Amino acid sequence: MKPKILVTRRLLPEAQDYLSRHVEVEVGATDRNLTRAELLEMVRDKEGLLALLVDRIDSEIMDIAPALRIIANCAVGINNIDLIHAQKRGIMVTNTPGVLTETTADLTWALILGTARRIPEAERYTRQGKFDGWALDLFLGRDITEKCLGIIGMGRIGRAVALRAQGFRMQTLYYDPNRLDPQEEKRYKAYFCPMEELLTKADVVTLHTSLSTKSHHLIGEQELLRMKNTALLINVSRGQVVDEKALVEALKTGEIWGAGLDVYEQEPDIEPELLQMDNVVLLPHIGSASFETRRNMAMTAAHNLVIGLSGHKPPNLVTPQDRK
Ligand code: GLV
Repeated sequence: MKPKILVTRRLLPEAQDYLSRHVEVEVGATDRNLTRAELLEMVRDKEGLLALLVDRIDSEIMDIAPALRIIANCAVGINNIDLIHAQKRGIMVTNTPGVLTETTADLTWALILGTARRIPEAERYTRQGKFDGWALDLFLGRDITEKCLGIIGMGRIGRAVALRAQGFRMQTLYYDPNRLDPQEEKRYKAYFCPMEELLTKADVVTLHTSLSTKSHHLIGEQELLRMKNTALLINVSRGQVVDEKALVEALKTGEIWGAGLDVYEQEPDIEPELLQMDNVVLLPHIGSASFETRRNMAMTAAHNLVIGLSGHKPPNLVTPQDRK
């Protein structure tokens, strides 16, 4: 008999077909996220769970499903899963690293350039029929070329962002609890420095850390105060890494010049004031959203799940150490 699994929300057809060949699949919903009550009900009799980053998988969910053996997250971030409890229960947890690195780094650059050159604001203006001729001072933005980029979190995505910065001849500083080896620093043309120094020097600060107790509100009032008044803050990691209320204040008072955000502290809710500000570019958590990458993420999650259920070690097994 095939093991029973729950996919909380319908995946792209290729991943759905692959799963159906190997396991007995229940799809939670086709065009929306599951409610907590639905998830609790549907997971009860399952051995496998393919979850999305919006599904909070805590001890209650795990304990209502005594047969649960694996949770395959369709995301690289795993902050939605209680890894400690999973380990206690002997439930494997997997994620989808690697496949979304380049796409997320591309989106980071779209946000950097979009924020620096005020592209969404200028586009709104043009659509509204306000463009009445070229002007010397129309929508002045910030140059990026040869400026200083500060990367906080120098994992796969941070490094991919650094490589792209070379095309703009930027000076790249980075902060990460684990320093790169000298060879890698050379390859990425990135200089390690303490976070305080990075915040003071960078023209663009971009966040690529995973969410943990250590990175929660890593950027708050004090950190924003350290940044240049002309600097941009870019966040494509997790919303809770930034104190969103402090960010609103910093943008209002001109402590920093602009922000480009793909993620929010209380997603999908956004601090209402941000929605009214022109010096922020707001995206709906689409860092990895390309056809190719979302397909690869779904297939990676599906493979992990099937391999785990077949009694083998899935390729992208994560451990509690991944979320210190
Ligand atoms: C996206 O945010 C991911 O963690 O994959």
